[in-house]
Amino acid sequence: MPSSNSGQITTIERHILDQQHHYPDASGALTNLLYDLALCGKIIASKVIQAGLMDVLGKTGLQNVQGEEVQKLDEFADETIFKLNDHTGRLAVMGSEEHDEIIPIPKKYKTGKYVLLYDPLDGSSNIDVNVSVGSIFAIFKRKSPEGTPGTLEDVLQPGRDLVAAGYIIYGSSTMLVYSTGQGVHGFTLNRMLGEFLLSHPNIRTPEKPKYYSVNQAYEPYWSPGVLRYVRYLQTGEGEPEKLGLSLRYIGSLVADFHRNLLNGGLFCYPADRKDPKKPGGKLRLLYEAAPLAFLAEQAGGAATDGRQRILDIAPASLHQRVPLYIGDKKLCEKAEQYIQKYDGAGA
Ligand code: AHG
Ligand code: MN
Ligand code: MN
Repeated sequence: MPSSNSGQITTIERHILDQQHHYPDASGALTNLLYDLALCGKIIASKVIQAGLMDVLGKTGLQNVQGEEVQKLDEFADETIFKLNDHTGRLAVMGSEEHDEIIPIPKKYKTGKYVLLYDPLDGSSNIDVNVSVGSIFAIFKRKSPEGTPGTLEDVLQPGRDLVAAGYIIYGSSTMLVYSTGQGVHGFTLNRMLGEFLLSHPNIRTPEKPKYYSVNQAYEPYWSPGVLRYVRYLQTGEGEPEKLGLSLRYIGSLVADFHRNLLNGGLFCYPADRKDPKKPGGKLRLLYEAAPLAFLAEQAGGAATDGRQRILDIAPASLHQRVPLYIGDKKLCEKAEQYIQKYDGAGA
């Protein structure tokens, strides 16, 4: 049952409504948008837990704009989030990992004041082998005039302007973790009730990190600064005592991030020379790095691309990739120091 010591049961709807009173001029649109995303999470979760039994496993045979194989569950999650949000009148425009361009609100529906960016299913390569996957969402206020079609400019906003962000993780249990800038709160899906119940109020990432997460196979492609930094994570060189970190990396950003958020740690996906087309690493700014950076900072952690705060990066394109170091604040600062010292001022 929920860990809140009062023993009371708080549904996510109740919690979101309570958050609303921090915003006197709130119209309820953001509250309802967050409700809708919680419903998306329930629907996607219902498919993920049956994945082995229904025809949602495997690949569609298609490739997305990223040049990646689209899994059936990617497509299902993408359609679910779009269809639950395209007609509500709360959004001006959407952006998804699975769509080359921004997704307009169909002309027959009213537009609203928010912008939704999402990675419908993160960690897709893990679906068929029953490893946790997730969905990530980021919410901005539109910049273009109300009542007009949303624009690319509405989408290309720095993470510091996020009004809300969160993820749903489909693991041993289904959890929704979100923040509207008033701390980070975790809810666990009670399948009997069909409700997300508050289980992790006010998440703060532990002072002492336990894990570091990186794909060690890419070591031959890292810069000198990244090599020295990962070595530091392993040896704690220069520290009065060993860092004592264990390596945990399961190839699902949401799952690796969630574990490190709760237990303390640092996830990094550095820039590498593996693929000349992706010099900035693999992860995307708008619907992976920035929303998780928002949560990390709200929980007392940090997120950097190795040179600057993730939330300060002004996106130039919808699928822009960035190197990502996220989680423990001191270990993020160390990443910047090593890269500055051994890779120079750099680009
Ligand atoms: P997605 O499934 O949305 O494309 O994201 C996969 C990402 C991220 O979840 C994970 O951290 C990373 O890919 C793993 O990449 P590598 O296999 O290159 O380590
Ligand atoms: Mn992803
Ligand atoms: Mn994805």
